[in-house]
Amino acid sequence: MGLNLKSLEAVAEAMVAPGKGILAADESTGTIGKRLAQVNTENTAENRNAYRDLLFSADGIEKYISGVIMYDETLHQSSLADGTAYTEYLAAKGMIPGIKVDTGAHDLAGSEGEKVTSGLDGLDDRLKEYRQMGARFSKWRAVINITEDNPSGYCISANAHALARYAALCQKNDLVPIVEPEILMEGDHDIDDSFVVTEEVLHTVFFELYSQGVNYEQMVLKPNMVLSGYDGSDRAGVDEVADATLQCLARTVPAAVPGIAFLSGGQSDENATAHLNRMNQFVNGNKPWNLSFSYGRALQQPALKAWMGKAENVGAAQMALLKRAKLNGLATMGEYSSEME
Ligand code: 13P
Repeated sequence: MGLNLKSLEAVAEAMVAPGKGILAADESTGTIGKRLAQVNTENTAENRNAYRDLLFSADGIEKYISGVIMYDETLHQSSLADGTAYTEYLAAKGMIPGIKVDTGAHDLAGSEGEKVTSGLDGLDDRLKEYRQMGARFSKWRAVINITEDNPSGYCISANAHALARYAALCQKNDLVPIVEPEILMEGDHDIDDSFVVTEEVLHTVFFELYSQGVNYEQMVLKPNMVLSGYDGSDRAGVDEVADATLQCLARTVPAAVPGIAFLSGGQSDENATAHLNRMNQFVNGNKPWNLSFSYGRALQQPALKAWMGKAENVGAAQMALLKRAKLNGLATMGEYSSEME
């Protein structure tokens, strides 16, 4: 694919190369069903394949997208144009194939309203199979909620422990782990609450990664930005978010980690781009890790709306995706401005 991806370090660096980011297209069957329902499209394997195909085949997308996270079903599907398996198709186009390997967040026993992510049982064997199929990196997402009483230390440490077990197994099986602890935007918390929780979660995650021998040079962190809750009053603006997020990461993420690829987490498309851009302007090249994106909704939503499940709209949907990918690519270098919208 023209990239030197011999080592895990090289794969991790390529995933967060300046100008590029990761397309998260790994929605589970249930989650993609909710997205398809927004455009009155039935949640069938054929429609899921058609939708993912339009994303991957957009002309020139590889200029801005370094890698794609897929769901298990998509990894077993193939290009509508020529029947090539997607792992091979993406690699030939210059994008690194990735796979979501957790099996979702489930109720955490003994805690009210908290979740822990499952998927460790049998993971070693699944990772071997995914690597053989051509995947070069994988993703595991932990979910943390901010409420009056939560998160509990128990929830944070259970999730951090599982993230580290997953990451160690990935590296053993020659896959770069994306380590994703997501603090949700749901609720009326303010940005200071988000800061305190994000700081504690990231400290705990890196403590577990260290304790379990995970190699920092061979991973990518996928955190939330430090944001006010959706229902908060007087929500923080772009500069405040960029500033708080950078301070929180500086306190918690070792310099050996090559890159940080943010999730969008329900921010508007334009906010997700503006926040990333502002952070890169603030640091002006002067930071230990590349600051990039691994967006799902913030890359896909305009494309989905343009598509509406209709073959005749594929071109318009691809244009919408390319626009967001390009603007986010610019944001990784601090070169985006809102006039470009
Ligand atoms: P969002 O950008 O929509 O939050 O999705 C990213 C992701 O992969 C969540 O796990």
